[in-house]
Amino acid sequence: MHIPILVNEILAQLAIESHHILFDGTGGYGGHSAAMLAGLETGKLHIADRDPVAVAHLQDRFNGDARVSIYPMTYADFVTTVAVATEPAYPRKIDRLLVDLGMSSMQLDDVSRGFGYLHDGPLDMRMNPEDPISAADILNRYSAQDLSDIFFRYGELHQNKILVQNILSVRRHTPIVETAQLRDLIKTSYHFGKRPIMMRHFAQVFQALRIVINREFEELERLIQCVDQVMSAEGRVAFLTFHSQEDRLVKHGMRAYPHWRMMTKHVVLADQSELRENSRAKAAKLRVYQRCY
Ligand SMILES: C[S@@+](CC[C@H](N)C(=O)[O-])C[C@H]1O[C@@H](n2cnc3c(N)ncnc32)[C@H](O)[C@@H]1O
Repeated sequence: MHIPILVNEILAQLAIESHHILFDGTGGYGGHSAAMLAGLETGKLHIADRDPVAVAHLQDRFNGDARVSIYPMTYADFVTTVAVATEPAYPRKIDRLLVDLGMSSMQLDDVSRGFGYLHDGPLDMRMNPEDPISAADILNRYSAQDLSDIFFRYGELHQNKILVQNILSVRRHTPIVETAQLRDLIKTSYHFGKRPIMMRHFAQVFQALRIVINREFEELERLIQCVDQVMSAEGRVAFLTFHSQEDRLVKHGMRAYPHWRMMTKHVVLADQSELRENSRAKAAKLRVYQRCY
């Protein structure tokens, strides 16, 4: 089960009213959606997720609730459609929008998806299995320069030359298709003094691949480009991010709109009691923006 993060803080800052049009762009297990629905009467909740497993789960969870519509698509596709849509299936404007940009526990714990570096599984990492490129495709086909750029830019792994050389030399005779192979390649490419440093390298490499495969930064940039257009006059947008690059993208992207202000002076973090319940909340940072004319 996925435990939703910073629920009370998100609800407090979104201040949802019973008639509001809401959009949860990353429905996942539906935890935040359920919380957002609590005070909704005449309003509507639109939920998107790109992962068909999550969509099936959401359809099941909110089955029969006339306030809810579920869209098997990315959140950026949803908002760009809203920006131009005339079809009744899409809202004209959105009052409250949330994106929770982490991985769901359903995704991380399913070894067949290949997201988790602690598990043995296929090197896939596509949130939507119909997307064209898997982690194995990247590791077996991309040039040394492209691999190095990916690890540098998206994993902030600045020393990656030996890792890239080792990937190229292994794939000459054996396709790299399992998470265990990638872990071994990372282990043989660095001298780790301590286990936490090794784990950090695993996380950086897996994160870099996941970001590229799922075009995560492009999604976020496309959303930010549309925010001003699709949100209503008193709109509020909540971004829950899980690493510094994502948080920077939000911070810098939202600066393009001087009439949008962050509602708190600093990002909101999970407190000790939430961290005790849910270690995945450790990296979470919440920024909520409101339009101020
Ligand atoms: C951390 S989970 C969300 C959990 C959810 N807030 C809850 O309370 O259960 C992130 C979800 O967002 C989905 N996702 C990630 N990027 C997406 C995108 N660009 N568009 C739509 N869904 C996306 C993932 O498939 C995953 O199910």
